[in-house]
Amino acid sequence: MSFNNTITLNDGNKIPQIGLGTWNSAPGEVARAVEHAVRTGYRHLDLAKIYGNQKEVGEALKKVIPSVVKREELFITSKLWNSFHKPEVVEKALDDTLAELGLEYLDLYLVHWPIAITGNLDELVQVEDGKVKLDLETSLVDTWRAVVALKKTGKVKSVGVSNFTEEHIEAITAAVGEAPAVNQIEAHPLLPQDELREYHKKKNIHITAYSPLGNNIQGKTKIVEYPEVTEIAKRRGVDPAQVLIAWGVRRGYSVIPKSVTPSRIESNFQQVDLTDEEYEEVSSIIKSAGRTRFTLPYVFTPKWDINVFGDDVEKDATHQIKIQ
Ligand SMILES: NC(=O)c1ccc[n+]([C@@H]2O[C@H](COP(=O)([O-])OP(=O)(O)OC[C@H]3O[C@@H](n4cnc5c(N)ncnc54)[C@H](OP(=O)(O)O)[C@@H]3O)[C@@H](O)[C@H]2O)c1
Repeated sequence: MSFNNTITLNDGNKIPQIGLGTWNSAPGEVARAVEHAVRTGYRHLDLAKIYGNQKEVGEALKKVIPSVVKREELFITSKLWNSFHKPEVVEKALDDTLAELGLEYLDLYLVHWPIAITGNLDELVQVEDGKVKLDLETSLVDTWRAVVALKKTGKVKSVGVSNFTEEHIEAITAAVGEAPAVNQIEAHPLLPQDELREYHKKKNIHITAYSPLGNNIQGKTKIVEYPEVTEIAKRRGVDPAQVLIAWGVRRGYSVIPKSVTPSRIESNFQQVDLTDEEYEEVSSIIKSAGRTRFTLPYVFTPKWDINVFGDDVEKDATHQIKIQ
């Protein structure tokens, strides 16, 4: 059985629970992956300016709209890159993304990170003395107000954030008078986000879980390769990735596994429901494996010298997020 479930957001729009991730899907691979996903039944695509592949995604969209799906049947998310946080460039950044994709509107536009940096369309990240150049003047509240205003243009249906903490969300909601519909965060059994999940439930903000399989960009073992996961998968006669996707779905998240491999695109979309015991078993992996955050700007090269999450590893960062 395929995943067809949708979840109603706090603004009334509906998000399909499984989406296709596209980070690190190379131009040349991504169009085929998107086309295959839509033909397989995916209706939710997770995109971003910084992934550098939106033009190719746009080519795939032309192949499937309207021959396979109508535009309104797809849920397309993209993200405002960090160098476009100044209110006066927010709408221009959205227009650029819509032009790359060949679309009139997005279903969801997210503030990609709670970090403002300098840069422009020709230079998305600027580096000085080995560090990413930060924009320390623009606040999260300034950016969020401009993103919320985009809804009036008709070019976005829902707006949200990504990689935001409870403190960030509390502040932008209080200042602007509108909560994000979605916070897209890293979430998987090694980073279960229990507290943040409780907070989001209370505030009716939906979580989309990224890196559900545990992306190994830092050279760490992917969670799909953990023996505990492969063992459950073997017992159930399913793929390890399906176990991890099912874990996120059971927690109420939208889950956006990335793949450019046709067979994986298909199997990741096949619904598996975990029993209570299996769910607990997957949840307990963290006890031996330890808490792991795979995506942390402070440890990237070049360094992003800013404390985003308040994790121990970020404690020596020189800068804090400008919230207000
Ligand atoms: N908001 C943010 O800051 C943020 C950050 C990170 C990610 N994201 C979004 O979330 C998406 C997913 O996260 P992610 O790309 O970091 O990691 P992921 O989806 O957890 O893992 C992707 C990796 O798993 C492999 N894979 C896919 N299906 C598999 C399967 N069935 N069995 C074994 N391996 C499989 C993929 O390889 P192949 O492609 O070669 O099959 C790729 O190497 C991203 O693509 C992006 O759209 C957002």
